[in-house]
Amino acid sequence: MTTVTERDLTPIRDALGPLRDREQVAARLLESSARHSFDPDRELDWDAPLEEGKWFWPPELVSLYDTPLWRRMSGEQRMDLARHEAASLASLGIWFEIILMQLLVRHIYDKSVTSNHVRYALTEIADECRHSMMFARMIQKGGTPAYPVPRLYHNLARVLKTVSTTPGSFAATLLGEEILDWMQRLAFPDERVQTLIRGVTRIHVVEEARHVRYAREELRRQMVTAPRWEQELTRLSCGEAARVFSVCFINPEVYGNVGLDRREAVAQVKASGHRREVMRSGAGRLTDFLDDIGVLRGPGRRLWKSSGLLA
Ligand SMILES: [Fe+2]
Ligand SMILES: [Fe+2]
Repeated sequence: MTTVTERDLTPIRDALGPLRDREQVAARLLESSARHSFDPDRELDWDAPLEEGKWFWPPELVSLYDTPLWRRMSGEQRMDLARHEAASLASLGIWFEIILMQLLVRHIYDKSVTSNHVRYALTEIADECRHSMMFARMIQKGGTPAYPVPRLYHNLARVLKTVSTTPGSFAATLLGEEILDWMQRLAFPDERVQTLIRGVTRIHVVEEARHVRYAREELRRQMVTAPRWEQELTRLSCGEAARVFSVCFINPEVYGNVGLDRREAVAQVKASGHRREVMRSGAGRLTDFLDDIGVLRGPGRRLWKSSGLLA
């Protein structure tokens, strides 16, 4: 009989380690979901009238803030732009969440249905489902149109979400979640902001903290265990996603809809040092993490730089 030595077991332990770790993370996230989940339909007062003189988005986070054009705008026009930009960001959020729901469904297709990891993924899909309905309701309440991303990117994402690899999917998830999350963390405690918007952003921040954790842990594991080609592809697709994301961040139709010249507005946003600072700060936590786990290398890194999200 051959004896099994500690050395023989090491590869098995190494292989099982990430899976056990994955189950433990998912168990903790399920506990947190049980404690802090919200039903926005009941949690928020959707019938309350909007508040006179309150913002739909903190002015410093509005794209044109502190530009020459902003200084020429009336107080009313600035608030109007903030309202449209909040709707644009909510539309972007819905777009991302719908993509994410599909990616999560694909992610669990071959996995054990009784695992914590799959149970948590289903919980997250349920969260995103409620979020998208909440954002849509928020847009309607604000009285603006919804702002879908330009057709080209809408279709590009159709391709990406169909062929995306697992690590690529989680990297894109973090991109969608972390920058908006950074802004929402500034919006919900801000007393200048409409109560409804503060409620929406508070719910989202609380529930997204789990999603960010889940995606980060999974991406970290994947960047160690995935084959080399997949790691390389992830670096590239993530860089491309960053570029698309920064282009789509605010739909330029908002400018025309508040009576501004669209071209001039887009040019001023591009030239704005304040805006660059906001976007970089918003992405900072994410880019530090991605750098740490080796996603920001090679040509992918150049795409990140061209997106303006990385200095
Ligand atoms: Fe969400
Ligand atoms: Fe999420």
